[in-house]
Amino acid sequence: MNQKRIIIAIDGFSSTGKSSFAKEIAKRLGYIYADTGALYRAITYLAYNTGFINRRNTVDVEGLARLLPKITLEFKRNPSNGLSETWLNGVPVEKQIRTMEVSNKVSHIAKQPLVRNFVDDILHGMGAQRGIVMDGRDIGTVVFPDAELKIFMTASPQVRAERRLLELRQSGSKESFDSVLKNIMERDYIDTHREVAPLVQAPDAVVLDNSNMTISDQFVWLSAILLKRFNITI
Ligand code: DC
Repeated sequence: MNQKRIIIAIDGFSSTGKSSFAKEIAKRLGYIYADTGALYRAITYLAYNTGFINRRNTVDVEGLARLLPKITLEFKRNPSNGLSETWLNGVPVEKQIRTMEVSNKVSHIAKQPLVRNFVDDILHGMGAQRGIVMDGRDIGTVVFPDAELKIFMTASPQVRAERRLLELRQSGSKESFDSVLKNIMERDYIDTHREVAPLVQAPDAVVLDNSNMTISDQFVWLSAILLKRFNITI
């Protein structure tokens, strides 16, 4: 069946499960998935390794302005597991961009207007054809304000810290619950208070608080919306 193809913009706080949800939606609908946070993370990883953000989180904006036009940043499908992965300058960096070090610095990079413009250009190129699910902080408000469906995801900070800790433990990290919770709360503050494209709920977004929901519960919720508003079955 040929269904209408739309842009689904998923915004919300850190560790609300946006990317797991977005990935699964894209898979079920046969859409492209764009993890926009991964692009900010990759730039942060590069900036840290080239000394354009230091230990005190001071950013060398001029250095970044010289660097960004020279880099390549893209998503590629890994044929061995079918997952989309982030590549920076021709090298896969999916694992390197998920460390606590990058998480602690990324909001300082993501608040720079020149970085946001750079990422927005990449995203506009990806969304030119409909049939895409993007997750981030400003997709429904700034990047694609005309997205047909906007979802704003939230959950309590404690639930989010528990989920994040589980992920970190699975990748061998010994981070404590308190430091993960602290990082989440700091990022919430910076993401919602920055001058450029702060995290806010778009007026026409539907809110999904998944503190007490499983991924299947979320799909029950979503399928009703897709069917009612767009006659799309998932
Ligand atoms: O979704 P994430 O935790 O991987 O995102 C990493 C950081 O990138 C997050 O702290 C805020 C920033 N970000 C943003 O400012 N705008 C987006 N569209 C996506 C992420």
